[in-house]
Amino acid sequence: MARKFFVGGNWKCNGTTEEVKKIITTLNEAEVPSQDVVEVVVSPPFVFLTFVKSLLRSDFHVAAQNCWVRKGGAFTGEISAEMLVNLSIPWVIIGHSERRALLNESNEFVGDKVAYALSQGLKVIACIGETLEERESGSTMAVVAAQTKAVAGKVTNWDNVVLAYEPVWAIGTGKVATPAQAQEVHCELRKWLHENVGGDIAASTRIIYGGSVNGANCKELAAQPDVDGFLVGGASLKPEFVDIIKAAM
Ligand code: G3H
Repeated sequence: MARKFFVGGNWKCNGTTEEVKKIITTLNEAEVPSQDVVEVVVSPPFVFLTFVKSLLRSDFHVAAQNCWVRKGGAFTGEISAEMLVNLSIPWVIIGHSERRALLNESNEFVGDKVAYALSQGLKVIACIGETLEERESGSTMAVVAAQTKAVAGKVTNWDNVVLAYEPVWAIGTGKVATPAQAQEVHCELRKWLHENVGGDIAASTRIIYGGSVNGANCKELAAQPDVDGFLVGGASLKPEFVDIIKAAM
């Protein structure tokens, strides 16, 4: 089954109003493959979500970088899935390694967030990935399988989920996974989905790569059979994000 290439830009905790306008102008003026070929989603900080949505070309979409684990209420500082839906924000990133590491988000908590976001009608970019220590000790697959299991157990409709494999050692380090390293894990993840969820879902679910993707290395990564796109951090704030979108061609 054909999987549409997916490119997400995770702006993380970056940007001023002026910088946001500049990025959007670049994206809006870019000539990129059509929506039939590539799905593009940009994820600004919460405070810029509606501003970005109002300026952004209609063939690109927006994602929040997180949302609360259940219905909103007395949870100071949190943003609920209902609020995102109310603002017509279609996507949310859940389980990014920065939140797992810095805010102690466990596999179980990430799974619960995925469940709640999906139940409210959001589409989810679910992030997984091993640390350098885990890779060096040979436990990469065990780690990403456990992370995937916590998410998979909560998914009712896989059409609304993109799995983002982001090795922690590659994030923001300039040390990108080699195409072979990325392909190896993506292929294993697809096998895991095949064995534990089902053949059709394994064939149709997009597994995207994140970690020091840039305009220079994206083509070779995109050529790997099980790499269905990217979740881009640093380079999504720069004009080269357009080159990464074009890697879909
Ligand atoms: O969500 C994006 C990833 O954390 C990758 O970030 O492209 O800056 O390495 P990076």
